[in-house]
Amino acid sequence: MHEIHPGAIHLPSFLSLDEQVTLVARCRALGSAPAGLYRPTVRGGGRMHVDLCCLGMHWNPVEYRYEAVRSDHDGLPVQPLPSDLAALARRVVEATGMTIAPDICLMTFYPEDGGLGLHQDKDERPETLAAGVPIVSLSLGDSARFRVGGFRRKEPLETVVLASGDAFVLGGPSRLRYHGVPGLLAGTAPAALRLAGRFNLSFRQY
Ligand code: SIN
Ligand code: MN
Repeated sequence: MHEIHPGAIHLPSFLSLDEQVTLVARCRALGSAPAGLYRPTVRGGGRMHVDLCCLGMHWNPVEYRYEAVRSDHDGLPVQPLPSDLAALARRVVEATGMTIAPDICLMTFYPEDGGLGLHQDKDERPETLAAGVPIVSLSLGDSARFRVGGFRRKEPLETVVLASGDAFVLGGPSRLRYHGVPGLLAGTAPAALRLAGRFNLSFRQY
């Protein structure tokens, strides 16, 4: 366990290879079900460089708010957050000494040339943010370069490589740190996953 900043914690190899294989199958099933993965257009009209599928509540990438149906896309009700996935997120957070009652998961799929710009996650309830209730992310597939900065966009960034099976927790005083994924290390996924690209599961408490 590496604490990059207080509350910003990298847990390498949190998941066994068997757990990763099972989770990738879950991601594929969730992603191809109704209200599955789609490629969002964001505020301003640009397209994201990941596919998105929200569980529990939909994060609207045009309005930056959570909702029950995907009003920016197909109007479908979001799929529920499976209780075993919520329990897995709690298990990660408890390993860091923090707590979470997860009710949302943003599942993203990064193609080999995918990425995610520098951002803060601040659309959850103000009380949740103020309490520093963490976000927990699980990485599956190709490794990603993950950047963690400060509380303003221009502050210095540290880069961590998130490999398949790693968890990363951003909570406590680090809850609102800027972060992003400038790119993947293509071809680095464990062969057993039969995956080109990367799934990320980002659990939150609304
Ligand atoms: C996110 O910032 O919401 C996802 C980060 C990641 O893909 O590791
Ligand atoms: Mn984020």
